[in-house]
Amino acid sequence: MKVTVVGAGAVGASCAEYIAMKNFAEEVVLVDIKEGFAEGKAMDLMQTASLNGFDTKIIGSTNDYSLTKGSDVAVITSGIPRKPGMTREELIGTNAGIVNSVIDNLVKYSPEVIVIVVSNPMDTMTYLVHKSTDLPKNRIIGMGGALDSARFKYRLAEALDCPISDVDGMVIAAHSDTGMIPLTRLASRNGVPVSEFLSQEQMDSVAQETRVGGATLTKLLGTSAWYAPGAAVSVLVHAIATDSGKMIPCSLLLDGEYGLQDICMGVPAIIGKNGVEKIVEIELNEDEMNLFHKNADAVREVNNELKF
Ligand code: 2OP
Repeated sequence: MKVTVVGAGAVGASCAEYIAMKNFAEEVVLVDIKEGFAEGKAMDLMQTASLNGFDTKIIGSTNDYSLTKGSDVAVITSGIPRKPGMTREELIGTNAGIVNSVIDNLVKYSPEVIVIVVSNPMDTMTYLVHKSTDLPKNRIIGMGGALDSARFKYRLAEALDCPISDVDGMVIAAHSDTGMIPLTRLASRNGVPVSEFLSQEQMDSVAQETRVGGATLTKLLGTSAWYAPGAAVSVLVHAIATDSGKMIPCSLLLDGEYGLQDICMGVPAIIGKNGVEKIVEIELNEDEMNLFHKNADAVREVNNELKF
């Protein structure tokens, strides 16, 4: 498998590193506009190969997309990250133009590519890719839910004071500080509903800490997080590479699913060699469905700021 990662910043380099360390890709091409930056990151990462035990070849490219030719998967991380106090949505002015330029170059050299969008505001950037390319909708995946669900599990394990491997949980809806829906009703500790262990107040607190998980880190780090976003992307790419059939929440273009049309929102999906094999419509209760639609209205408002 050949994977391109556009953007050699912290998130993109983490994507490349975790993909390489999983050792399922023949080649990872890291692209950036900053002269020599991607080449440097690629060389530094390649010098970990004998230490971390991978054979994946990582190369860097300063904006030469010919080196990305024939990529099976392309990850778009390029754009500016948020600063403390900013919302992801405030990035749209700068990042929309960057994503548009990047996707044109990617598809030119890899018309069969599966695109994974990370750049924020991610749900809107994913929608932009749908509207500005002819790629089939199963080959455009927004990465948000995989990251948010990892943060949800982290917070659940913290509240339960148990190993993270004991908990399971999923986050759907928007990848935004207010638009996420951590499904506490369906979360479990080794198959037992977490409501058996946590009070409603504790579950509400876990959900809220999950929703602001990105902002919490941005405040601590002075910029957006990169380890967990990079790892979440590597799980998605691995699921495609191995045709795994894993169910992973992703931002996908809805065409009637969950009662919504013409919008990208985080929903559970079966991921395989074709990208999105199937969108899974789980049974939401009335409150969850109402909140899903309310959060979709907020995403649609951001989408309306796009100029096609
Ligand atoms: C995050 O939540 C960067 O949106 C990403 O960390």
